[in-house]
Amino acid sequence: MCGIVAYIGPRQACPILIKGLHRLEYRGYDSAGIAILNSELKLFKSKGKVSDLEELIEGKDLSGTVGIAHTRWATHGEPNDVNAHPHFSFSKNLAIIHNGIIENYAPLKQELLKRGFTFQSDTDTEVLIHLIEDIQLNEHVSLDKAVQIALNQVVGAYAIVIIDKNDPDTLIVARKGSPLVVGIGDKEFFVASDATPIVEYTREVVYLNDEEIAILKRNDELKIRTITNIAKTPYVQTLEINLSALEKEGFEHFMLKEIYEQPRSIRDSMRGRLNVKSGVVSLGGIIEYQQKLISAKRIIIVACGTSWHAGIVGEYLIEELARIPVEVEYASEFRYRNPVIYEDDVVIAISQSGETADTLAAIELAKSKGATIIGICNVVGSSIARATHAGSYTHAGPEIGVASTKAFTAQVTLLTLMALMIADRKGTISKSRYHQIINELDAIPAKVEKTLLVNDKIIELAGIFKDSRNALYLGRGYNFPVAMEGALKLKEISYIHAEGYPAAEMKHGPIALIDEEMPVVIIATNKGTYEKVVSNIQEVKARKGKIIAIVTEGDQTVKALADHIIEVPETEEMLVPLIATIPLQLLSYHIAVLRGCNVDQPRNLAKSVTVE
Ligand code: G6P
Repeated sequence: MCGIVAYIGPRQACPILIKGLHRLEYRGYDSAGIAILNSELKLFKSKGKVSDLEELIEGKDLSGTVGIAHTRWATHGEPNDVNAHPHFSFSKNLAIIHNGIIENYAPLKQELLKRGFTFQSDTDTEVLIHLIEDIQLNEHVSLDKAVQIALNQVVGAYAIVIIDKNDPDTLIVARKGSPLVVGIGDKEFFVASDATPIVEYTREVVYLNDEEIAILKRNDELKIRTITNIAKTPYVQTLEINLSALEKEGFEHFMLKEIYEQPRSIRDSMRGRLNVKSGVVSLGGIIEYQQKLISAKRIIIVACGTSWHAGIVGEYLIEELARIPVEVEYASEFRYRNPVIYEDDVVIAISQSGETADTLAAIELAKSKGATIIGICNVVGSSIARATHAGSYTHAGPEIGVASTKAFTAQVTLLTLMALMIADRKGTISKSRYHQIINELDAIPAKVEKTLLVNDKIIELAGIFKDSRNALYLGRGYNFPVAMEGALKLKEISYIHAEGYPAAEMKHGPIALIDEEMPVVIIATNKGTYEKVVSNIQEVKARKGKIIAIVTEGDQTVKALADHIIEVPETEEMLVPLIATIPLQLLSYHIAVLRGCNVDQPRNLAKSVTVE
């Protein structure tokens, strides 16, 4: 979603801001803008990509050592030049960039209209900056005070940065709901909606908390106050992101790089947690709450998108291994449907970004009912990581491609570790079975490496199916969420309509869609229900569907039936999602490339969805 970058210090701001916007492109956006102050407050913005903005500012004098910049993902008002950020205040003395939504913007706007204000854009953001200026002028207060007063009138979420033409030495920054990080350099400050634009300049950062306002003054220390005027001591953290993780490193797209990173990222998510020799699984981040998990009568998993699919794998794992009932909920449904939540429930919130608004709200709801909340997040220091009682980071490294790949396998790895840990402590698994599974889990990174060798075969298949208009993905048991995830990947980046279904459920509807045009991807690696999956394949074949089957190496039965097969290494059935997902990621990737789609930044999608 929207991206924020701002700079104040001794260097030229423009190159830092433009580079920062490029770093944030992965979040998804539809317009971009910049404002630089140097006696004049110069502002440029345009619909489209950051490269369009670069064309617009080419040859213009944008020298200056303080500035703000933004990529916008439209919520209020269509994506166009006028609605793009930054927005000027009425006098054009102030300019603002904003992530989030001001929910009560309509009554605030009415009030301002009555008082003679006019508006250029359809945005809620312009209402906020007019309001701030109105307060500043009428109440004769400093800008930071005016921001404080205005934010007390605002309902909704915001991360904002304000620049003042009359004060080139200050930026005012505030946050509620939408993330904001301040980087502290040598006599300079960087601001961004996540750490990616900051990491190459400084590793010292402060994550603002909700309802905090930061005052960034040249040659001064960072000052933070709450909107209720309580002074806060900044809590400085050190970033651990590696700069190379933010580059493509020779791959054509981030998504492909991230698919290929999976042997490493899965290993990293197990590092220090799985000790095969001693047979111990330990999750340091949740140790204090481990007993709650072990004795839980019920576990509720909340998540969105790909993380929700990981949640379904988690449900199957925890129920099978630890014998605790699990419910998996879309966070957006859970938060609004008045769910029954008990104090002894344990809620596991899964989120790559750690910023998904619905998941965050679901956590707050469950917390208010007294449940224990465990997080599984990828982004360190993110809002969800901080809102949970305890948690485990997935350690997959920054995921830049909008379509989630390595984060999914890392989430599934952690859920497997969690299920094994609970099962072992509860005694719901025999020692020999436990050792069998952890040994196999340890072998997964090497098997993923081997699975990646199917790439050439997948390129061939992508060529055959690139013009399909629909696709069906089928799987049973652990392969059902894999089917859903495969279909989601195809939809997201190639814009081909795809459905993921439990294989047996196909006959209750989707079978009506099958004809000779329809590619049907079937994950047929099952052991327990192999014969049943074979029957499902027969049903598709009888309707002339084109079968692409993911099978275990050496499989003969399905090979004889399918139009195309992709062989993957054999593993424990419960670990198959970590392997079978890989060819499906590659298939959607290559189809999208052949269709000329923007793989890393698919249309209309955002990497972290910070609005509901
Ligand atoms: C967006 C992303 C998806 C992601 C979902 C949940 O829709 O495009 O890739 O799965 O949000 O995000 P989270 O960061 O909470 O895992």
